Amino acid sequence: MKLFIDTGNLREIESLVPLGIIDGITTNPSLLAKESADPHALLKQICTTVRGPVSAEVVATDADGMVREGKELAGIDPYIVVKVPFTRDGVKACRRLVDEGIRVNVTLVFSPNQALMAAKVGASYVSPFVGRLDDISTAGMDLVKHIIEIFDNYEFPTEVLVASVRHPIHVVEAARLGADICTCPAAVIEAMFKHPLTDIGLEKFLKDWEKARQAAKV
Ligand code: E4P
Repeated sequence: MKLFIDTGNLREIESLVPLGIIDGITTNPSLLAKESADPHALLKQICTTVRGPVSAEVVATDADGMVREGKELAGIDPYIVVKVPFTRDGVKACRRLVDEGIRVNVTLVFSPNQALMAAKVGASYVSPFVGRLDDISTAGMDLVKHIIEIFDNYEFPTEVLVASVRHPIHVVEAARLGADICTCPAAVIEAMFKHPLTDIGLEKFLKDWEKARQAAKV
């Protein structure tokens, strides 16, 4: 499963990319609004740093506007993937952008039918938002399971990008279901590194080693 960071923060990206576990980035207008940099310049820097797919979202709500903005975003860097919200206009814009050779991530997907329609118009990625569904007492991972089943049934090449991830268990569940990608806040990726038994084990190995070295000296 590919691992993306869900962030617009360059420092988070620069700290995780050298580990070799990051395959791409997703941003959204809320995430970019938190950063002080010019959004287009920031997206360019992100692309240069990660050298993998970087989702950048349109803010227009009409199809013509989405296509116009999508082309501008795609012009920033070849790694840019244009994110469009799942609406009737988003679906229309997706088809037009795909026809122009631009990769599209259809976002704000909350039902299998939305994912099916996004796949039919050639989206490279669909983003089911699991955390926001969990927040309203609906099992977000059931949506991921159903989308994977549908895409497998018809061999859609669209990749399932699990989004709105809140904790490491979401990542495990996404991987067990065979999702193509999981995009996580940096804090979730940091949490994935931690296990108290690893810390305790390492401390003991180092202590034992040091004890043996001291004993060898006398
Ligand atoms: C995905 O592409 C979105 O940017 C993101 O995962 C939304 O997550 P949230 O529900 O935590 O805002």
